[in-house]
Amino acid sequence: MNAVVQGGGRTLQPAGAGEPWCDRAADDLPFDVTCPSFLADPYPHYERMREQWGQMCRLPSGGVVVLGYRECSAALRSRDFGHGARTTSDTTAYGLPARSFLLVDPPVHDQHRGRVAPGFTAEAIGALMPLMTEVLHERVSAFRPGDVCDVVTDVAEPLAWSVISSLLRVPEEFRQDAERLLGGANPRQSGDESLNALARVKFSRAVRKTLAAAPPSRCPTDLISLFTSPWGPDGLPATQQEALATSGLILSAGYKTSVGLIANGMRALLDHPDQLRLLTESEPTPEDISKAVEEFARFDPAIQIGLRAALTDTEIAGMAIPKGTPLLLLLGAANRDPHVFDHPQRLDVTRTPRHLAFGAGKHFCLGAQLARVQARKALTVLLQARPQPAGAAEYDPRWVTRHLRSLPVRLSPNPEIA
Ligand code: HEM
Repeated sequence: MNAVVQGGGRTLQPAGAGEPWCDRAADDLPFDVTCPSFLADPYPHYERMREQWGQMCRLPSGGVVVLGYRECSAALRSRDFGHGARTTSDTTAYGLPARSFLLVDPPVHDQHRGRVAPGFTAEAIGALMPLMTEVLHERVSAFRPGDVCDVVTDVAEPLAWSVISSLLRVPEEFRQDAERLLGGANPRQSGDESLNALARVKFSRAVRKTLAAAPPSRCPTDLISLFTSPWGPDGLPATQQEALATSGLILSAGYKTSVGLIANGMRALLDHPDQLRLLTESEPTPEDISKAVEEFARFDPAIQIGLRAALTDTEIAGMAIPKGTPLLLLLGAANRDPHVFDHPQRLDVTRTPRHLAFGAGKHFCLGAQLARVQARKALTVLLQARPQPAGAAEYDPRWVTRHLRSLPVRLSPNPEIA
């Protein structure tokens, strides 16, 4: 474990291929991000780090780690920070040869984001509602009183996948490959690289095939028709490279994250029976459900970090940040900052919503509203079925994206559900 250099800093070397800066920075942190106890509950580790090093600290590798809510928020919103020419990798998470708009700065960021933004309006989300209701109804109504249901595999994954596959027009059969792609995207996770590579090829082939078959449309029903329509921000259809990069981003940013919001939140609720009772003793209002979902996002966010680099010599909260300095923003720690939240380690579904789970500023999550809607619908249906713990919850062994892979609950479903 390396010592942290406070206040100093040194010239950064560019990250080598397959070695994004966050991986190097992770090696400098005072905890092992691959260790099972950290992965089961990273929050006490963040608090120990905050107690020892404060809200921000400089690592031996030259980068700066930010734990404070206000400091993270300032970095996310400031134009002094961005992604620059190369701060992580020049490929998508799947090794496709393009950077998605998550990892680029304006003006290209705004152009690519602007092209798919119409797929995330209230109207577009409304058009997905019947599909979400159907999936939830089909899944939860299949359970009889006393049955054990896995919130992840029986509810959250089918729901989130139905939304993603509808946005990207990828078939149901592709889900297994998507799981592999998302698993293989993590260089620290072992896996059969040839199968991961095959899943990458299948994904890019599936997107190319769908693009070739999609006629331009003035009333886009999914993201694919937004790629092929020449009515985007630049008056041209997307290039194949842009379409692949954005599709890869939607898959990686939108599937397991939504699963995490639903399942991590349900798990937190089951761990806090007083809060579960608040939502089940009398029928919760839509406002109660919305607040609970925001608290889920704060309490155990599905994305634990953000990455940025200083685009100019600048500062945050009085700490000088020279141009080129990479920043590791610990969103999970910021969401539990004791300077901002009362009793931050406690789940409180009546809290006034406030958090950085969806980021902030230019790169604020494009799918935030879609994720919220899915989680509100899933939570409403699950609460009606009076869930009770029925076994151990199991997290996927990853840090950057944090989501459960199993959460057994016993249900007492009402036949009128959904
Ligand atoms: C609970 C679920 C979700 C969480 C916690 C989450 C979290 C985040 C965060 C933290 C960022 C900002 C990253 C950064 O600034 O570096 C982000 C960006 C993004 N998210 Fe989400 N996300 C969720 C769901 C979704 C969904 C459902 C979609 C789409 C279907 C989506 C699409 C995106 C996209 C496209 C971006 C990039 C925005 C940009 O760079 O302008 N997300 N998300």
